Amino acid sequence: MRLLGELEVLLAQALEKIHAQRDTLALEQYRVELLGKKGQLTAILRSMGALSPDERPVVGQRANEVRDALTAALGERSLLLGEEELSRRLLLESIDVTMPGKVRYLGHKHPLNRIIEEITNIFLRLGFSVADGPEVETEYYNFEALNVPKDHPARDMQDSFYLTNGLVLRTQTSPVQVRSMEKMSPHCPVRIISPGKVYRRDDDATHSPMFQQVEGLAIDRGINLGHLKATLLFFAREMFGAEREIRLRPSYFPFTEPSAEVDVSCGSCNGSGCQVCKHTGWIEILGAGLVHPNVLRQSGYDPEEVSGFAFGMGVERIAMLKYRVEDLRHFFVGDMRFLRQF
Ligand code: PHE
Repeated sequence: MRLLGELEVLLAQALEKIHAQRDTLALEQYRVELLGKKGQLTAILRSMGALSPDERPVVGQRANEVRDALTAALGERSLLLGEEELSRRLLLESIDVTMPGKVRYLGHKHPLNRIIEEITNIFLRLGFSVADGPEVETEYYNFEALNVPKDHPARDMQDSFYLTNGLVLRTQTSPVQVRSMEKMSPHCPVRIISPGKVYRRDDDATHSPMFQQVEGLAIDRGINLGHLKATLLFFAREMFGAEREIRLRPSYFPFTEPSAEVDVSCGSCNGSGCQVCKHTGWIEILGAGLVHPNVLRQSGYDPEEVSGFAFGMGVERIAMLKYRVEDLRHFFVGDMRFLRQF
């Protein structure tokens, strides 16, 4: 009974191989190899034709049993491998809603832009509106129209970046005063502020070749120093706190007369003197004055009819004071460790 022996060997080997299959695809290939038309069991069944009539049913019955056993084993293995594959895939593809999300850093406004917005909002509430002017400016608007003729020593106060053809990177936002007056004259009132970048040849811990200013200008009948002082006091208290005081010290600007440097009382020591205010109790925040008659005339206003005040403040300086930053260059290097604090 050679065929019976072959059947037993096939059964034993096949059961072992079925359990050795690692995935459903390989198992299916093996099933075809075993039970398919050209399969090993099929080959044995075919050769049964050569058996004698009394051998045939014995071998036939055993062959059926072997096929059933193999089919059952294949089915079991397939079920198991299928489950394993499914759970592996679920593990890879599924979304675990209990997992903590990825935090994306969105960024935020630069501290200097925040300060500019704060300054702007304070003046908007006083009825000022925002005016704009070019950073590449003509020498006329940056100097001449502001009562600084050629060869005037005041041009040395602001070491400038000159371009060709009478152009200059504006050294101050004051040219926007002139541009605004030219647009409005002879009408009143004028109330503008103008934030923007200015450029000077200056570079150290408290000076940068590019920095920002906010210019202010008010023109109307009967404007006097009292209006300037009240406006700046309101600003200082809104910006730095209700208990702040300001003081005006006589100064000189070619485009204002009289002119003043304006100090705010030190918030670190409340005016008694400390390191922040260099033991004076006061911190300088801006330059200001009443618009010079020459500037009014030059821009189309009659100084006998109207008067005005103007001021200009450094944005970085205000930001340094408000946020207690000791080196202005922190604002420009883009170090996230610094910027994320705001
Ligand atoms: N433009 C002056 C400066 O940059 C500041 C200023 C503006 C002074 C307006 C008076 C009036 O120093």
